[in-house]
Amino acid sequence: MIKARELAKPQAQSGHTQPAKGGRRHLLDLDDLSRAEIETLLSTAKTMQEVLHRDIKKVPTLRGKTIITLFYEASTRTRVSFEQAGKVLSADVINVSSSGSSVEKGESLYNTAKTLQAMNADIIVIRHPHSGAPYLMSHFLDSCVINAGDGSHAHPTQALLDLYTLQQHLGTVEGLKVVMVGDILYSRVARSNLWGLTKMGAQVVLCGPLTLIPLDFLTAYRNREGHPFASIEVETNVERALEGADAVMVLRLQRERQQAGHLPSLREYSQVYGINQKRLALAKPNVLVLHPGPMNEGIEIDPEVAHGAHSVIEEQVNNGVAVRMAVLYQLATPSREGS
Ligand code: CP
Repeated sequence: MIKARELAKPQAQSGHTQPAKGGRRHLLDLDDLSRAEIETLLSTAKTMQEVLHRDIKKVPTLRGKTIITLFYEASTRTRVSFEQAGKVLSADVINVSSSGSSVEKGESLYNTAKTLQAMNADIIVIRHPHSGAPYLMSHFLDSCVINAGDGSHAHPTQALLDLYTLQQHLGTVEGLKVVMVGDILYSRVARSNLWGLTKMGAQVVLCGPLTLIPLDFLTAYRNREGHPFASIEVETNVERALEGADAVMVLRLQRERQQAGHLPSLREYSQVYGINQKRLALAKPNVLVLHPGPMNEGIEIDPEVAHGAHSVIEEQVNNGVAVRMAVLYQLATPSREGS
């Protein structure tokens, strides 16, 4: 585990080509991270949380590094927390959004990325409506690339902060029954969490109308012998799914991505799958309620649950800063191995 005093030293100015800590240059999803790598990121986040609890929330660790956040889709939590994380680590952080940039004049993703790299970006944090956009960038850039959400595909830092929040409250993720309820088909948060939770040993139950469960995606992996997805259960009855749950992850209906025909009506969805206090009482007495935000209160989650005693939704946001500090640190600082 990294010690807080290590953060007090600016890291060597290595340029882009030296291997980062753990030898990884990009964070695109959790599918190719080992359990040990996830555990290292979570323990590093714990050290970062100590920094955030100080009176002066600033360490020189990434002094001289430039982080560019490039957002082609709306965001509050992810963009702001990456900015805060970079600034606490003393990096220079520049925010670019598609509106107001040359993207509006038709500049391609490739040319935009090359332009930002020419400005010596060490790390580019990208959110894009198209699944795979961060992967494309990682192929032709020397900068580190962090996926801050691509289409319906992946949102690895959200999954990491969810794991961190579970671990913080319940001590471990191993063996927990975690129920994900809602629009799993279009949720990049759900997909990254499927990797993270199963690699960390949770028992995952997916719940929602079958029209919003990515059965093809699940089947493709569940048929592989020994695959962590083999343990994932699908349950369309929310009451049965919630029985004995340690945590419930409520997912937003991604109305901007859904095509017509998935649901008869929002009212009906809310009646059948909305998480309210009566349903929550079926879970364990100390159940945690998570939601990645933004919430459709009154549709997938009742306000009394969203802001009630079991909710850790604000803590998720708070933990997002420490987790993103950990990711920036691990990618942007050179490995000491062999030095
Ligand atoms: N959870 C999440 O990605 O929130 P934002 O869209 O506000 O970044």
